[in-house]
Amino acid sequence: MSTLATPDNLASLRAALLNESQSTPLAQRFRALFTLKAIPGQESIDIISEGFKDESALLKHELAYVLGQKKDPYALDVLTRVLENEREDPMVRHEAAEAMGAISAQSAVPILEKYLNDPERAVRETCEIALDKIKWDHSNQPSASTSTSSATTQFTSVDPAPGSTSGLLKGKATQASVQELRDVLLDASKPLFERYRAMFALRNIGTDEAIDALADGFADDSALFKHEIAFVFGQLSAPHSVPSLLRVLQNSSEDEMVRHEAAEALGGIATPDVLPLLREWATREDAPRVVRESCVVALDMYEYENSTQFQYADGISAAA
Ligand SMILES: [Fe+2]
Ligand SMILES: [Fe+2]
Repeated sequence: MSTLATPDNLASLRAALLNESQSTPLAQRFRALFTLKAIPGQESIDIISEGFKDESALLKHELAYVLGQKKDPYALDVLTRVLENEREDPMVRHEAAEAMGAISAQSAVPILEKYLNDPERAVRETCEIALDKIKWDHSNQPSASTSTSSATTQFTSVDPAPGSTSGLLKGKATQASVQELRDVLLDASKPLFERYRAMFALRNIGTDEAIDALADGFADDSALFKHEIAFVFGQLSAPHSVPSLLRVLQNSSEDEMVRHEAAEALGGIATPDVLPLLREWATREDAPRVVRESCVVALDMYEYENSTQFQYADGISAAA
């Protein structure tokens, strides 16, 4: 994206992200955030960091996510403060730990180790995966340097684990490899990092069979694991995953972190059957705040998918 980081642009993005007018809709604040994501340098990180004073866990977890995706170690200080704040929402702390894994600096190892026994399961599981990822990235494994890059896949995200390549013939999936990956994915006795590697390999395969294998993961008891499956479904944007995502969104006994991720994935896939349910859950009083807000943001993405607007993250024109 060719966003010009002029002082005026940065000031208007800051005003939108931090809701200085007190009347900026949440979806517009998200757009400002994704525009800032594409602007390199410390200034955009400083602006994003100011957002942690907000009270929306959804917004704050997205701030942490974006800081990780920027891969700039300059963000480690603020991410450390977020992880250390035990009063902070676990979803936000989880995302801060994951972002440290994405940045992959060895200097983050002690703080991640410190929270390996955090009372919040999503936090300690994230620290475990982030530590394994940092170890992986800094090991001498032949593919380690490229494993988390987008070089071999269509996905541009920095993933919490590199897609596993075992069972693939010359990088190509076979029926057997989907079955093999599914076995690893669903094996709760294996380390999460290994299961995540199978998850991202199945995402990279992306066939209906791979999606079915991933959807079977929704029967797991780790909210973290399930929310990541919903996240990769959002990346895949395949209508084939819609029924399983709708079941997750509508399941009131499911963890809110998982339902939130399902809502956002559904907004990106944007098939017509999705819209009425997103509208319903955007306002339902019995829905947790993070689920409602995710539906609001998802509806905004839906409108984008179905409009001619050029770029979702065009926060500058959105903020203007
Ligand atoms: Fe997350
Ligand atoms: Fe999320």
